[in-house]
Amino acid sequence: MKENIASSQFQVEDIQSFIYLGYRDLKSSAYLLCRFNKEAIEEARKWLKHNLNFIQTLDKDLGENALNIAFTKEGLGKLGIDNDELHTFSIPFIEGMTARQKILGDFEQNDPANWKWGNEKEDSAVDMLLLVFGKDPAALEKKIDSLEFNSDHINLVYRVDSAFRDKEHFGFRDGITDVTTEGFLSHYLNRHPDNEHSGKAKFWNIHRDDVLKDGEVLLGYTNEYDEKSESPLVKLESKYLSHNRSDSQTSFKSDFGRNGTYLVFRQLDQDVSSFWSYADEQAKASNIEGMDAQYIASKMVGRLPDGTSFISKDENISGYVKEDPDGLKCPFASHVRRSNPRDSMIQGKPEESLKAVRNHRIIRRGRSYGVGISDARDMKEFIKDAIAASSVDKGSRGLNFICFNADISQQFEFIQQNWINNPKFLGLYNDPDPLVASLPVNGKTFSIPDQPFRKRLELQKNFVTVVGGAYFFMPGLNAIRYLVHKESIVSISNDEGKSFIDIGLSIY
Ligand code: HEM
Repeated sequence: MKENIASSQFQVEDIQSFIYLGYRDLKSSAYLLCRFNKEAIEEARKWLKHNLNFIQTLDKDLGENALNIAFTKEGLGKLGIDNDELHTFSIPFIEGMTARQKILGDFEQNDPANWKWGNEKEDSAVDMLLLVFGKDPAALEKKIDSLEFNSDHINLVYRVDSAFRDKEHFGFRDGITDVTTEGFLSHYLNRHPDNEHSGKAKFWNIHRDDVLKDGEVLLGYTNEYDEKSESPLVKLESKYLSHNRSDSQTSFKSDFGRNGTYLVFRQLDQDVSSFWSYADEQAKASNIEGMDAQYIASKMVGRLPDGTSFISKDENISGYVKEDPDGLKCPFASHVRRSNPRDSMIQGKPEESLKAVRNHRIIRRGRSYGVGISDARDMKEFIKDAIAASSVDKGSRGLNFICFNADISQQFEFIQQNWINNPKFLGLYNDPDPLVASLPVNGKTFSIPDQPFRKRLELQKNFVTVVGGAYFFMPGLNAIRYLVHKESIVSISNDEGKSFIDIGLSIY
């Protein structure tokens, strides 16, 4: 059968854009967690077929709104990916986020049993995630209306609205260090050779350490091990999918995963008031001049609220070993230093470290939800408001943490388990991430290296709580075409019942 997809090039027309573009101009967004009605799956397929052309891919210019789509294992199962095929997906995806509780440290306040969605509770299981974006709330609602949901076929389990904000809710600039990959970078620079406002400058300035091989994010491409990132397979041959050439003996004929990626979604509530009250109390208790709430909080994050790095003059941090070997500027325990330790991952081996961390990077696409605790732009006013709100504020706010990676266990889970939750990481003794660790932190410490003595603060509570989450697969467009046309794929088995052909399908 003719292979209709070239295997070497970066296939922009097949890759969903949100992976690579944060849609900073589409500030309003809604994440719609949906479940298919199993009895009406053909109707759900029709709905998907109808909306296929509206999915934003990298070859299309971005307009006033955008739609991207991802599925859980259950969703793919309902759309006809059989059990054998599902087992070609990665283990964390097959098991699901709740089953990874021990690895992720989701206990006590973070226990999946308490989540609003994504756990085992009836009515909270999710099949499909629709990520809808608009340049403003009106554009967003218009786009959602245009999707024409019919609850007989697709139920809305939960909707969480998010916004692109300059700062996350604790008051710190986020999304500074951005990972991209070689194929996207060259596509982007070719497409925008001269446009000053296209965001080119950002990409010209991106640090070389943050440009990875495509296979660290997309399935079916070469990764940092110089191997093809593992891609799930299906048994049917289809003109939408490239042929699986890895093993002629296998019954899996087509590459379903190419141009897709795993999407990790964690809804993380932030207790802003407690965070700033804690920083304030610790500062007052220390009674040291210059050590105020902002100083403590910034050391916990690893950057100043405006994003300024403790390590370098510009925002890019190339490494810690030369500039700050003892953590006197940016504490080892801080969120930023431990979630990407750069050249200090392996003690005494900076070059090896830089190479090794390349296997543990993620593309972050977090957006905030809920109303901010204060409108004050001045940080001192903001902190005052945040502390004062402690007794009155009942708002729910946080970060819809989304990241993309080709290997959940080596990338997202590795960061969460070995770096964020690990109290002994980087030679520390009892210090998990003071900002976002999911394991209970009570009884643990946060150490700020200083001279003549380091300061050691007792951690008292987690300021971030997981309230929902799931692992999704965001397929390439052709894989979605395959799913929606699956009912019309006629299978003709050969003598061994292993090979299939498809007929009569039209490409959009
Ligand atoms: C509510 C929860 C969270 C908040 C408020 C938060 C906040 C921040 C902030 C302010 C930065 C610095 C800005 C930047 O470098 O882009 C940052 C960086 C980062 N965060 Fe988080 N974060 C949260 C959760 C997480 C989680 C769950 C992970 C991963 C498991 C994570 C991974 C990272 C990484 C990899 C970086 C970039 C570090 C670097 O390359 O220098 N964050 N975060």
